[in-house]
Amino acid sequence: MTKAFAVALVGCGEIGSMRAAAVEKSPRLRLRAVCDIDRERAEALSKRFGGAVHGDAEVAVRAPDVDLVIISTSNNLHAPLAIAAMNAGKHVLCEKPLARNLEEATAMLDAAVRNGVQLKTGFNHRYYPCVSKSAELVREGAVGRPILLRASIGHPGGPEFFKRWFADPRIAGGGTLIDNGVHMLDITRWILGEVDEVMGMSSSARVSAGLDDNCFALLRASRAIASISSSWNKWDGYFEIEITGDEGYIHCRYPPMEVRIGKINPRNGRLSQKRILFWRDILLEKVLTYRHTTIGTFLCEFDEWLEAIEANRPPAFGAKDGYRVTELVQAIYRSAREGVRVPTPVPDVLKTPSAPSGRS
Ligand SMILES: NC(=O)c1ccc[n+]([C@@H]2O[C@H](COP(=O)([O-])OP(=O)(O)OC[C@H]3O[C@@H](n4cnc5c(N)ncnc54)[C@H](O)[C@@H]3O)[C@@H](O)[C@H]2O)c1
Repeated sequence: MTKAFAVALVGCGEIGSMRAAAVEKSPRLRLRAVCDIDRERAEALSKRFGGAVHGDAEVAVRAPDVDLVIISTSNNLHAPLAIAAMNAGKHVLCEKPLARNLEEATAMLDAAVRNGVQLKTGFNHRYYPCVSKSAELVREGAVGRPILLRASIGHPGGPEFFKRWFADPRIAGGGTLIDNGVHMLDITRWILGEVDEVMGMSSSARVSAGLDDNCFALLRASRAIASISSSWNKWDGYFEIEITGDEGYIHCRYPPMEVRIGKINPRNGRLSQKRILFWRDILLEKVLTYRHTTIGTFLCEFDEWLEAIEANRPPAFGAKDGYRVTELVQAIYRSAREGVRVPTPVPDVLKTPSAPSGRS
C-alpha cells in the first residue's frame, strides 16, 4: 500500500485555503495541522478540511506527527519557517517567491542540502494546462528552435491590495516583479534555458516611490532573448506568453485558457494556424471560479513533489530554481536602479550535482 503523508499547512490566507482544498483532494496527503496567527482562519480551514489548529508556526512545522510542511505565509516568513521545518527533518513546499533576497535563499538551499530533504518552490504556473502544453510543444520541436519569448503577467492592484503586506517591500522583498513576475522568470528559464544577462526598468505609478508596480525585464539566454512585463496595473486578463521559434509561434494565454500555434511551411512559406481551447477548464471555471484551475495546479505540484521524495531525487523546480529566480529578481532590480546591464553567470552553488534540490 502506498504511504499517505501528514501535512502541516502554515498560513491559512487566500493561497493557504486553496492549498488545504488541494491537500483534501490528494489521495496521498492528510492535513494534520493548520496554523495561522489569525486563529479564526486556521479554525475555519480545520473545520472544513481537518487538522489540529496551531497558533505557533515554529511549533507546527516541528510537530513530530508531521511529514511535510507547506508554507503559504507572507514572504518574510518563508526562510525562517522553511529552515525550522527542514532542520526538523521535514520536506517543504514553499510558496513563491522562495525568498525575499539571496541571503535567505542561500540559507534555505543550505538547509535542504544539510538535512537531506526536498524543498520545492511553489512555481505552480508551470502546471497551467496552456503553459504545460506550450512547453511540451516546444520540447517536441513543433515551432523549431525557440528564439524569442515575450511574457506579461499582472492584476489590477488597487487600494485594498496596496494596503496588504504585498505592497510593503520589507515584508514582500519588492513589488510586482517579486510577486507575480517570478512566475514568468521561472517559465522563461524553463523554456529557453539559463539566463546570462538582464536589464530592468520599473515604475511606481500608483504606489510609493521605490516600490515597483510595473516592471519590465529584458533577458538574454544563450540562443534567445526574452522580455517580461509584470504589473499591478493590468486591467484585463492575467498572463500571456508568446514563444517565437524559427519555424513558427506559440501563443499561450489565460484566461480564457488557450494556446494558438502557427507553423510555417518551409516549402512555400505559408502559415498554418491552430487554436486549442481548454474547454473543460473554461467551463469548470465558470462554476468553480479561478480556484478550480489553481487547485488543479497545486495537485500536480504535490504529485511531483511526492514522487521526488519517494525516489529521493531533487524535485522539479526545487530550491535551486527558487534560488536562481531570486538571483534574477535581484539583478533586474539592480539594473532598474542603476541603469546598467547586469550579467547573471550561473553560480557554483547551482552547479553542484550533490544538492538534493534542483532543476529537473
Ligand atoms: N502560487 C501563486 O500563484 C501565488 C499567488 C498568490 C500568492 N502566492 C504566495 O502565497 C503566499 C501567501 O499569499 P496569500 O495571498 O495567501 O496571503 P494572505 O495574506 O492572504 O495569507 C497569508 C497568511 O499568513 C498568515 N500569517 C502571517 N504571519 C504568520 C505566522 N507567524 N504564523 C502563521 N501564519 C501567519 C496570515 O495571518 C495570513 O492568513 C505568499 O508568499 C504569496 O507570494 C502565491
